[in-house]
Amino acid sequence: MQTFRDIFQYHLNTGKHTCETLAGKCGISVARLDAFLASTASPGVEELTLLADALAINPADLMPDETNTEKGIRYMSARESKATIREIYRKKGNREIHYYSYRDTAFSKSTPHAKGVILDIRCTAEDDVVQNNGHFQDALTLVLKGRIKGYWVDGSGRSFSRVLETGHSYFARGYVPHTYRSFSDQDIGQILSFTFTQHISGEVQKDLSRLGNDRAKENISSTNPYSNLLSCHMNNSMLKIPELAEATGIERTRIAAFIELNVIPAFYELDAIANALNISTGELIPVISDSDNGLIHLTQAESLKKLRRLRDAQRNVRYEVRDLANTKEASNFRAHHITVSSDVISDNYDIFSTEHTLIFALKNQARLTWLFDGQSHSIELQEYDSVYIEPFIRFTLTSSNRGEVVRFQYPSLSAGDARKEMFIKGTPAIERLVSEQRPWADRQTSK
Ligand SMILES: [Fe+2]
Repeated sequence: MQTFRDIFQYHLNTGKHTCETLAGKCGISVARLDAFLASTASPGVEELTLLADALAINPADLMPDETNTEKGIRYMSARESKATIREIYRKKGNREIHYYSYRDTAFSKSTPHAKGVILDIRCTAEDDVVQNNGHFQDALTLVLKGRIKGYWVDGSGRSFSRVLETGHSYFARGYVPHTYRSFSDQDIGQILSFTFTQHISGEVQKDLSRLGNDRAKENISSTNPYSNLLSCHMNNSMLKIPELAEATGIERTRIAAFIELNVIPAFYELDAIANALNISTGELIPVISDSDNGLIHLTQAESLKKLRRLRDAQRNVRYEVRDLANTKEASNFRAHHITVSSDVISDNYDIFSTEHTLIFALKNQARLTWLFDGQSHSIELQEYDSVYIEPFIRFTLTSSNRGEVVRFQYPSLSAGDARKEMFIKGTPAIERLVSEQRPWADRQTSK
């Protein structure tokens, strides 16, 4: 875990500073800066500002992370979850309508881009329905109890509604306006909604905000995602259509059609273009959506068709796993319903995820056993308990009464392109990324 000294050393290195050169710039003594590097002193708020100004970075970039996990997990009991309930009212005309009761599930401070909430749908009358404005995150929602009606508005402003029942799950793209109601006060529906973003983190939002609306929109200025990526890399590589045609042997008119018309290049053409641009072919392939205008809806019966039985070495079934409404749009995000059908602990901790995990206990009991720093730990999960599990933690689930859990798996910020870049840099680089202990060169002096 990075301490202030690691972060300070990292920024000294990237800014090509020693304590001596920085002292002159920031007005803090060399002795005190040395003490920061020796971890015998920590900067005050004013010193942080002086350091950030001298290093040309934001003070927040110097702040170490805070975590709320213990031994790799964060557990929240059903009772703790219930204590977080807040009642939400919405206005319709002069009326205040009791709309939702929200409660939290286990969450990690290190992943503010993802959260699971349980909603009791208090609104029951068609007349009381008030559409929201849509929210930034995508959402994968599972109906826990009852029958509800969901309403949403697509990108062209058309309104839709659909009845959703216990066990149904659905994916809704971010910023799609949506709302729900139950059918009666005697049958209040309840949903578990996991909201997340894959690659558009807070840092990306800050970046777009710095660009402003006009320039931010240029990221997606074309109507064709292939054309958008191709134009972007041609501009950056300073190659125009004639040079690209020459380098690839693809007709000029065909390249123009990729850019100006909705013509999709074949893979071998993308490969030739990528070679000419000196980039990886994957950089030219966009995300292909399989959703119906931002919405995927899976009934319980459809989900059951995706059931598979995972077995141990003795061929006994350990888990009955089925997909919830997963989508190509969010390929690093996965949601599964798991029935745990064995009470024998597997010695190989058979569930492993490279990403963040939230386990929500749906029905009966399940025991979570996980490995952290070579030690085994275990916790019994009752209905509506939840656990956040850090990436790369091996764990196993057992149950004597076919406990059912939902597993949400959402990408860590070091997944995807960051993982590919780290692979190229290699293991020694990872050690320095985790904790920078060394200056970029030894025995430097300055005058
Ligand atoms: Fe929502």
